[in-house]
Amino acid sequence: MNILLIGAGGREHALAWKVANSHQCDQLFIAPGNPGTALFGTNLPIKVGDFDALKTAALTNNIEMIIVGPEDPLVKGIYDFFAQDAATQHINVIGPSAEAAQLEGSKAFSKHFMQRHQIPTAGYAEFTLENYEQGKEYIAKHTLPVVLKADGLAAGKGVIIAFTHQEAMDSFEEMILNKQFGDASAKVVIEEFLTGIEVSVFALTDGKNYKIIGHAKDYKRIGEGDTGLNTGGMGCVSPVPFMDDAFMQKVEERIVKPTIHGIHQEGMTYKGFVFFGLMNQGGDPYVIEYNCRLGDPETEVILPRLQTDLVSLLAAADNGTLEDVNIEYHNASFATVMAVSGGYPGAYKNNFIITGIEQAKALPDIHVFQAGTSFHEDAVVTSGGRVLTVTAKGTNLQEAVSKAKDGLSKIHFEGMYFRKDIGFEFP
Ligand code: AMP
Ligand code: GLY
Repeated sequence: MNILLIGAGGREHALAWKVANSHQCDQLFIAPGNPGTALFGTNLPIKVGDFDALKTAALTNNIEMIIVGPEDPLVKGIYDFFAQDAATQHINVIGPSAEAAQLEGSKAFSKHFMQRHQIPTAGYAEFTLENYEQGKEYIAKHTLPVVLKADGLAAGKGVIIAFTHQEAMDSFEEMILNKQFGDASAKVVIEEFLTGIEVSVFALTDGKNYKIIGHAKDYKRIGEGDTGLNTGGMGCVSPVPFMDDAFMQKVEERIVKPTIHGIHQEGMTYKGFVFFGLMNQGGDPYVIEYNCRLGDPETEVILPRLQTDLVSLLAAADNGTLEDVNIEYHNASFATVMAVSGGYPGAYKNNFIITGIEQAKALPDIHVFQAGTSFHEDAVVTSGGRVLTVTAKGTNLQEAVSKAKDGLSKIHFEGMYFRKDIGFEFP
């Protein structure tokens, strides 16, 4: 079948690689893609939010499956757009309906959902301009640190962890009175701070059944030893040593099952990936957030680890046979290490020539997944904060990380930085 993949980052490069390797994939198109995805299919210069142009491209190219990478088009209703149009409703769109995508698109929606289904998460309250004064009182009495979250999508910047009441009050005022994130912060969720180790679990669901397809630990801070500013993710490892059968059983029983059951019971349409952002607090998992898509760079380790054919899996989510699919993993450890532009996550420059990708790829057990890159004539140049990530397979995590760093040692662009300590707590 012909498949259209939507997005342009490292996650999409990894998806393009995995999809193109499926015997079920005839032609792959990527909108808009990047120089990495172009190695596995045809990039189409269409923005992820231009649904009309995506529809035309889907019909012109006889697309039978659409895989949506990022959250924005999902929250804006791309699933419903294709499902409600007689010309496109035969296409298997992998992604939740706009209603179900609120699990990511609205923090308040997801907290209510978790409360209704007794899914473990941090205690919270929500405030708008109407009860602004009560919000201030609530903050004044709250234990520290306290977490403030803009309700809507805020490009990963809508969460503040405040260590003093003053800082929390200031952020609260910024969000509600000064509309720091526009409509996204018209409502603010204030929640308890969870301590522990953050991990991610991924499932594929058809809205009734589900399969867990992997898990990972993401390293979010820019600096070594988990210091400095938050980023989109500086590297990942999978599998995670402490996410053993006992822990995963708790995740499945307490979180995954009640979530999928809740989606089904409430009649939401959800055929796609569910990303459970979890805190392992003393061996017990709590939900920090839901995302309605795969993670980036989590995808760059979970797909190489997944042995099962992805396209068959996605077809099964469409035709009601998900329950019958066997999920198999490669018996090895995987790590990915992200190379970023100098200055990231602050200001950085683009258009530096990247060299050495081919040399890195020539090493055994290595993938180079491009994230923020573009073509400049024949050269591949930097065009984002997170530029590319090197994934490696090893017999253990340390070997995987070490091989990923060997791969990065072949690659160069001006200002390139990466964390050398991914997986540091698992010697
Ligand atoms: P979110 O956008 O909900 O993923 O939040 C961004 C990051 O803030 C998370 O990845 C966590 O590192 C942190 N965070 C969010 N909520 C909490 C919480 N209740 N307790 C501790 N850390 C949190
Ligand atoms: N790496 C975190 C995310 O994709 O949201």
